[in-house]
Amino acid sequence: MAYVIGIDLGTGSVKALLVDKKGQTIIEKAKEYPLIHKQSGYSEQDPHEWVQKTADVLRELVQDFKGNVSEIEGISFSGQMHGLVLLNEKQEVLRDAILWNDTRTSEQCRQIYELAGKATLLEITKNPALEGFTLPKLLWVQQHEPDLFKKASVFLLPKDYLRYRMTGKINSEYSDAAGTLLLDVANKQWSEEICRLTGIDKNLCPPLVESHAFVGELTESFAKETGLSAKTKVFAGGADNACGALGSSILSEGKTLCSVGTSGVILAYEKSGDRDFGGKVHYFNHASENAYYTMGVTLSAGHSLTWFRDTFANGETMDSLLEGLDNVPAGSNGLLFTPYLSGERTPHPDSNIRGSFIGMDASHTRIDFTRAVVEGITFSLNESIEIFRHNGQEIKEIISIGGGAKNDIWLQIQADIFNAAIIKLKSEQGPANGAAMLAAYGCGWFTSWEECAEVFVSYKEVYEPIPENVERYRQLFEAYKKIYSQTKDISERLMDYRQK
Ligand code: XUL
Repeated sequence: MAYVIGIDLGTGSVKALLVDKKGQTIIEKAKEYPLIHKQSGYSEQDPHEWVQKTADVLRELVQDFKGNVSEIEGISFSGQMHGLVLLNEKQEVLRDAILWNDTRTSEQCRQIYELAGKATLLEITKNPALEGFTLPKLLWVQQHEPDLFKKASVFLLPKDYLRYRMTGKINSEYSDAAGTLLLDVANKQWSEEICRLTGIDKNLCPPLVESHAFVGELTESFAKETGLSAKTKVFAGGADNACGALGSSILSEGKTLCSVGTSGVILAYEKSGDRDFGGKVHYFNHASENAYYTMGVTLSAGHSLTWFRDTFANGETMDSLLEGLDNVPAGSNGLLFTPYLSGERTPHPDSNIRGSFIGMDASHTRIDFTRAVVEGITFSLNESIEIFRHNGQEIKEIISIGGGAKNDIWLQIQADIFNAAIIKLKSEQGPANGAAMLAAYGCGWFTSWEECAEVFVSYKEVYEPIPENVERYRQLFEAYKKIYSQTKDISERLMDYRQK
């Protein structure tokens, strides 16, 4: 039997799947790592930790594997997007990585518009200047840590750094490069113009390849450390959202995905890179060749729920937190939550906005709050769906993956709030499944993505919207949407009081 490994380098953990030629997951391993929050709005991670924890999960995976390691033909990746890893000439890490959910770069976003012009930026990169993207982070380091920045010889995205450490080869690929704000998205090349206008040396950008491209074999030392064969082929991989889409068979127009990880996204397939969404939604290269996707992002989706559990139900599992969710009626007995724990992206690109519970009364218990959090995350995602629908897209069916797909009640809440049929997948492995598919396709197991998806992706269940709940949520959503504008000024005033 032949196998591949899909590695998902997430924000909270790294997960590795061993998958066979029938698309079945044989072994799954995961390890967590911490976020470093030096001050409010900062979010960093130590890249060495990604490498160490990945080596640990792979070693454990190999230990549990009953076959011969030479049967593991290929490895590929899915990675948290946008994070900045800077390397010096000796390819050593210069500082902790600044992550996608770090919001320190509002000033640099303003500068990017001033230097490049919003119209040029949107025309070339297809995306607005948002704090989470990589270019503002490069500018921040250039301005705040100039001595360190001078030592930089290349920048890498998180999974690209991990792959470099596993193979010794430096590359990036289009789906992740699209989230840097330095890529000419339609023409699939680093933009000389954006580099020039923003004062970034183009030589800092790593060479680009396709997501399924073979980049090299494992180094002897990484193979030895994990027990894998040094002949294992390594393929470039993709951005986590592109891999989530691939792993859910979002491979043709009309297909829509809802993915809840730390962040949450609503994503739709696009066959061309030359449409104009005016920066309202993200517009990135897909992990399948010459395809694209548009996406709205809720910054704190799964994070809102884990934050709520860790703060108010410390020590409890997610299952125990969510127990009894269906005993609370749609609308959480009049309690609303906005998930702006680290600012927001879609439809309100605003790093200063903060979350709120509105409508509390003395009758509310913890489960009302829990349901309000789940509904608030889903309302936020529904704002992205609303943008897609306003753009003329018909959304009748949505594939749901990630944290939101692990709980049946939440899937029904998605169906009722999104007013669409929600599809749950059989073996739901999120972006890691897409990473395994990239390795399988790279190894030549399949001649088309459709063939690959037929083997790797199958539907399990459909949750149909319940008309009565749809109507109830439709009205409540109108109230939810008012919260942003009505709490914006209050959030700004509270900024001075934030100490952490
Ligand atoms: C997408 C984004 C997040 C990260 C999470 O633009 O910032 O979804 O990819 O890993």
